[in-house]
Amino acid sequence: MNAIELLETQHEEVKSLFDRIEKANGEARRQLFEEIADHLAVHSAIEEKHFYPATRAARTEELLQQAVEEHLSVKRIVADLLEMDPGEAQFETKIAVLKEQVEHHVGEEEGELFPEVRKLLSEDELEDLGVVMEDLADELEEMGLPRAAVPAETGEAAPLE
Ligand SMILES: [Fe+2]
Repeated sequence: MNAIELLETQHEEVKSLFDRIEKANGEARRQLFEEIADHLAVHSAIEEKHFYPATRAARTEELLQQAVEEHLSVKRIVADLLEMDPGEAQFETKIAVLKEQVEHHVGEEEGELFPEVRKLLSEDELEDLGVVMEDLADELEEMGLPRAAVPAETGEAAPLE
């Protein structure tokens, strides 16, 4: 799959999980949050390890620097939530902030970054990059609990190289 299509598919998946968690309670809520955390962990890993380094250029530099900072902010909220009980009052508030930040990030990627990347990389390059990203996503999912890596990634933004 083309790298951009892969990321857009993941964006849709996470959006639908956020829609579902708004209507869920108790144990279902916790499970949906864990699913969201796993999705975000895999998504940020394949972007940070492959997509961002492969799309780094003068015209994308600022967008990519912002993107890794936004990932950091999202990871910090996810790490907080992983330690909380869904019954806590702050849980719902933090989910709402997480959703806002993810929506903002997705909007910037789809609205600004991806159009630049389409100018930088050929169809073949996007296909090859997509394969490498999908392989890493599969590997992380097979290892299980991708979200477990998130708390260790909250110190600073991922490097772009
Ligand atoms: Fe991202």
